[in-house]
Formats: sequence, C-alpha cells, structure tokens
Amino acid sequence: ASRKFIVGGNWKANGSPDSVKKLVKDLNDGDITAKDVEVVCAPPFVFLSEVQGSLRKDFAVAAQNLWDKDPGAWTGEIPAQMLADMGIKWVVLGHSERRENCGETSQIVAEKTKFAVDNGFSTLTCIGEKLDAREGGKTFEVLDEQLKPLADVLSEEDWEKVVLAYEPVWAIGTGKVATPEQAEETHAYIRKWLTDNVSEKVSDSVRIQYGGSVNDKNAADLGQQPNIDGFLVGGASLKGVTYGGAVRRA
Ligand code: G3H
Repeated sequence: ASRKFIVGGNWKANGSPDSVKKLVKDLNDGDITAKDVEVVCAPPFVFLSEVQGSLRKDFAVAAQNLWDKDPGAWTGEIPAQMLADMGIKWVVLGHSERRENCGETSQIVAEKTKFAVDNGFSTLTCIGEKLDAREGGKTFEVLDEQLKPLADVLSEEDWEKVVLAYEPVWAIGTGKVATPEQAEETHAYIRKWLTDNVSEKVSDSVRIQYGGSVNDKNAADLGQQPNIDGFLVGGASLKGVTYGGAVRRA
C-alpha cells in the first residue's frame, strides 16, 4: 500500500505568544516540503486561532483534545463543533498524558475518536504501553486492550480518517527512543491486529506514526521501516528546524 508519510508536531502545553509566533515563522520559512509529507501542528488551545491564521496553508492544524458533546453547558470544555466551525480539521486523541492524568480510558478514547470522525475530523489517535508492560512482555496485551474499543466503534469508512500514533510511554520525553527494530516490530503487530480484527483493507491503508523522543538524528532510520508511516513529535517539534529534519525523510 502507498501510505503518505505524516508527521505531527504535538506542542503539548508549551509556548507563549512570542514563542508561538517564532515557531510559526520558523516553520513557514523552513526548508520543508509538504509535497510528499503531510504535516499537522497541534498547538495548545489558546493559540489555535492564531496558528490557524498564520501557519503556511500546506500544513494542517490540530487540537490536542476535544469534547465529544454538542456545545452547551459544559464549563471549561471545547466541543468538537466549535473547533469544526473555526476550520480545524484534525485532533490528537488519547495521548498517554491524557490517559494518565485526565482519566481517559481506552473506551473514552474510542468514543471521542468516533465522535470526532462523525463531526468531520481526522484524528491522530494515540496508543502505547508503559515501561512495566514493555519489561513484563505485556506490550501486545496493552495494545489489544487499547485497539479493541476502536475496532468496536469505527466502521471501515471511519478508519479512513484515523491515523494511529504508537507512542511507547517509556520513550516519551525521555530521550530513550525505541530502536527502529523495536518500533517496527510493534507497528507490524498493530497492522496484523488490524488485519485480524478489522479488515485487510484497513490494515493496508491505516497510517501508523511512531512517537517518543523522535528528533532529527533518529528520524531517518525510524522512517525507513516499512510499517512506520510518520511520526508524532513532541519536544523536537518546538524547535521548528529540527521538526523539519524529521519531515525531510520522505
Ligand atoms: O505526542 C508526542 C509524544 O508524546 C512524543 O514526545 O517527542 O517529546 O518524546 P517527545
């Protein structure tokens, strides 16, 4: 299958009005071609509008979460509809930091993914095991548990709007990147799971990003792996140029 390489920059809860302006300028001026690579930047909510208005138009903008209910009496939440109305087309869902700190279960992540797709979004839906699971040989069990609710709610057509981001939690922000072999083995497992539990077609076409300490030095080797279709970059995405380094692979 020919799957277009896709790189997401997850800025997490970082940035100030000044640093965001500078980052957008770096990305706009950068030596990056979006022709063969899809690029999606995910700023914090407070900067969404500004980034949406100032970022080069061949890069997409994502929210880092959404509220899967209609607008109304939900103090402090950001409903999907509101994001859609302002032209946001992508959303990061189920990041391990939200699973860990905000009580998002695999069931909730699946429901949010379904709601997002039903409201016209494409999603970067995150999965990945923690260190104890990796060391205890339970990685695939964890992934099964995270994938099952998604397979239960998404139709074959829905899957066209879903990108999976495989992020081993032990590699996030630690500088301890998965080896290309480790990542490839896990990505191949996820693809096989999709063949067995969804369909051959979905397994062939779904893009699976790797995330966890990706930078301009390790991106090339990871990006050569047949089942790695992109990256979800955290720390390095805050340095526009490095982020471009990860993009240049394709
Ligand atoms: O969503 C991005 C990941 O959590 C990776 O973060 O590149 O800082 O390790 P990192």
